[in-house]
Amino acid sequence: MVKKELCEIISNREIAYRIYEMKVSAQLAADINAPGQFVHIRITNGLDPLLRRPISISSFDKKNKEITFVYRIEGRGTALMAAMQPGMSLDILGPLGNGFPIEAVDNGETALLVGGGVGIPPLLELSNQLACKGVNVIHVLGFQTKQVVFYAQEFSKNGLTYVTTADGSYGKKGFVTDVIKALSFDCLYTCGPLPMLKAIWQEYQEKKIYLSMEERMGCGIGACLACVCKSKDDGLAVSYKKVCSDGPVFRGGEVLL
Ligand SMILES: Cc1cc2nc3c(=O)[nH]c(=O)nc-3n(C[C@H](O)[C@H](O)[C@H](O)COP(=O)(O)OP(=O)(O)OC[C@H]3O[C@@H](n4cnc5c(N)ncnc54)[C@H](O)[C@@H]3O)c2cc1C
Ligand code: FES
Repeated sequence: MVKKELCEIISNREIAYRIYEMKVSAQLAADINAPGQFVHIRITNGLDPLLRRPISISSFDKKNKEITFVYRIEGRGTALMAAMQPGMSLDILGPLGNGFPIEAVDNGETALLVGGGVGIPPLLELSNQLACKGVNVIHVLGFQTKQVVFYAQEFSKNGLTYVTTADGSYGKKGFVTDVIKALSFDCLYTCGPLPMLKAIWQEYQEKKIYLSMEERMGCGIGACLACVCKSKDDGLAVSYKKVCSDGPVFRGGEVLL
């Protein structure tokens, strides 16, 4: 059930250049049903910024009612979030959307998790849950440069972890797609920038694949149509899906990239 809650910030720290990890104490952690869901954050009590900002749930602890987000300073909203201190309250709406299905892979099978930049955070909870289930988890994490690398150690605890940087300053030089070529897997889960999702989809259309999409959002609950993307366009008919309520995670082929 979607709830609006004023939760308390437990910590908010910079973990890489302009990348922050925020932990909050939130009752609505109990309602999260899949990795890859998100919350919609009201940044201030005033009118600027007016709209809530969507941020993925990176990990959660139902017992202690804690949620962790990882966000990059992109503009005014996330810059204001970065200045928030422990003890302050944060207005969140969630959990929202449909996350990654962990039932898509069985114990003993191999899941490949591919993330780019701030698409990486929601893959951590996914990785934790798959590893718990006995799935062999392989991670490929792509960043621009060493300064913005985060969570490589956390993923390594669950399985083989490859890091790429576009400039070669950390891990392997190049893109996630360069590494994936050499790997075999039963199911691929991915979240990151659209060009990365497109490249992966083009290469692995015949595989079982789940992609998490990003769109600018308004309401976050399926009411305003700000976040629609095309699911079909055959020249005769066009249909759309809402990223906030039909997604953000879609089975490969469900939306047009
Ligand atoms: C479902 C979902 C989950 C997300 N999870 C995360 C996350 O875990 N961590 C994280 O850092 N970010 C995440 N984002 C992106 C995040 O919502 C935006 O970075 C944030 O809203 C920017 O707000 P701002 O006020 O700082 O920037 P603004 O001032 O609103 O925008 C600054 C710049 O960022 C661009 N931008 C803003 N929002 C988006 C977006 N949704 N997609 C593409 N470009 C955008 C704008 O076009 C502009 O160029 C997610 C987005 C979605 C839709
Ligand atoms: S953000 Fe309003 S319908 Fe998706």
